Amino acid sequence: QAAPLIDPFARPITYLRVSVTDRCDFRCVYCMAEHMQFLPKAELLTLEELDRLCSAFVDLGVRKLRITGGEPLVRRNIMGFFRAMSRHLGDGLSELTLTTNGSQLARFAGELVDCGVQRVNVSLDTLDPDKFAAITRWGRLPQVLEGIRAAQSAGLRVKINAVALKGVNDSELFDLVRWCADEDHDLTFIEVMPMGDLGNEDRLDQYWPLSDLRARLSERYTLIDLAERTGGPARYVRLQETGQKIGFITPLTHNFCESCNRVRLTCTGELFMCLGQEDRADLRAPLRASNDDAVLKDAIRAAIAHKPKGHDFDYSRQTVAGQMSRHMSHTGG
Ligand code: GTP
Ligand code: 5AD
Ligand code: SF4
Repeated sequence: QAAPLIDPFARPITYLRVSVTDRCDFRCVYCMAEHMQFLPKAELLTLEELDRLCSAFVDLGVRKLRITGGEPLVRRNIMGFFRAMSRHLGDGLSELTLTTNGSQLARFAGELVDCGVQRVNVSLDTLDPDKFAAITRWGRLPQVLEGIRAAQSAGLRVKINAVALKGVNDSELFDLVRWCADEDHDLTFIEVMPMGDLGNEDRLDQYWPLSDLRARLSERYTLIDLAERTGGPARYVRLQETGQKIGFITPLTHNFCESCNRVRLTCTGELFMCLGQEDRADLRAPLRASNDDAVLKDAIRAAIAHKPKGHDFDYSRQTVAGQMSRHMSHTGG
């Protein structure tokens, strides 16, 4: 067994997020520009190459693999990739999962379960079909709700991710909470991060600090802080009245970087060391230069040795600092 990956701040890196495509069938306003220039397909790593890369990470101690995008389920033969990765489950890997917009879940839920996936994170910011279409630019809410139902029927645990947006879904806070309680989904709110060249005024105008959201919630519910962490940045509370679990991802109001355990691989083989920094390493070159996995693993170790301390996102004093020009879809969050 190889020595585990440890970064310069003594953080063990055990979680890999893999963006398998930059494409998506939606264009969420905080994630992509309306007219995105997507990568030519020839630029993408093949699924076999992604397999070799991910397997090297598992050998190096990665225990959790989250498949992201763009929208991961729009990549051709993505189920073949899930199936390939599932061979590591119970043998190195403890969790294989994905973050999806839900649009293709009705089609793939059963196969995901067959591949050992146990939970999925579905992005859903609103239960209002018109608002949903406005946020995603053309997404159809019923299709996503059908996907979520299919996932649940297939036996998948569903976590809903809602980006907190002032003036957009703040009026729906209690509806979202109630709906998740009724449908038995976990729910996590996320502070909108200044990523992508999307018109920063909007990000700032729409920024809804989760400290405010939390205060609103506690007007109606009793919040019990939970100590548990799922290996992600979220902190959790339980609502005493409904028993449901609510997560808060707070890159702006409460930095969680000190416990970071993750890096991000893109569909072209770039390894991003932090969501909120430009530090990256090219793994495609070593991947293609040699069939020797030792070369690849050396490149991975060298990259991790440069993982930065954390992000600098900041909306204070009515300005946006620490902003990234890279779109969120590039690394899949
Ligand atoms: P689990 O904890 O495994 O359920 O997953 P997760 O919440 O980490 O993953 P998910 O894909 O659901 O991400 C939810 C949101 O958290 C996305 O908006 C991500 O961009 C954000 N996020 C995840 N990891 C980080 C991180 O390391 N830094 C920052 N700033 N945001 C993150
Ligand atoms: N800020 C916060 N979250 C974002 N997401 C996409 N763009 C942003 C952003 N700018 C979320 C999506 C999805 C997850 C992968 O990232 O809603 O749930
Ligand atoms: Fe697509 Fe997800 Fe980005 Fe929306 S947030 S455009 S669904 S990748």
